[in-house]
Amino acid sequence: MERVESEVNAVGDYKQGEAIFTQERIEARAAEIGKQITADYAGKEVVLIGILTGCVMWLSEIMKSIGLDTAVDFMSVSSYGAATKSSGIVKILKDLNINIEGRHVIIVEDIIDSGTTLDYLCNYLEGHGTASLKVCAMLDKPSGRRIDINADYVGFTAPPAFLVGYGLDADQRYRNLPYIAALEV
Ligand code: IMP
Ligand code: MG
Repeated sequence: MERVESEVNAVGDYKQGEAIFTQERIEARAAEIGKQITADYAGKEVVLIGILTGCVMWLSEIMKSIGLDTAVDFMSVSSYGAATKSSGIVKILKDLNINIEGRHVIIVEDIIDSGTTLDYLCNYLEGHGTASLKVCAMLDKPSGRRIDINADYVGFTAPPAFLVGYGLDADQRYRNLPYIAALEV
């Protein structure tokens, strides 16, 4: 089905017209990364762990281009006190359903900002005895980093703005925008 640009530019009270990353660009980049993962893990099985909820569109694009035996699971976490705590506390809201011991795991995240969530997740998942652990993030926002941690596969470097769309939300809204834009209300 064809999308009418004026419709998707007016979700709720969101009226930003200009996409920072268009759907076409995001999907092309996801296909590149999927192919890269296929080459990097040739002959192996991978487990993609999507971090809900922001991962949904990005994960669905990535997995279509992975030509390997691929399992998919999800975790949901919430970060607390980003503004008040320097160390950051992450709470698991939904844990893994499958056993990842001895398996090649790739965390699939929407965006890495301070690095708090990713740092916690890497430590947690490595504690399960993974054969290997890598990270695939749709966006990297290095300007927000407080913990020295980076993704192995990055879609795009994000500008220092609050971004919405393609899974990214502002108070649970705008995840359905089929492109990424800066929040302007
Ligand atoms: P971190 O723990 O500070 O790296 O935060 C990572 C999480 O914060 C991401 O998974 C997002 O859910 C959220 N986040 C960070 N920056 C943005 C943004 O610009 N737009 C929407 N969500 C964001
Ligand atoms: Mg997230």
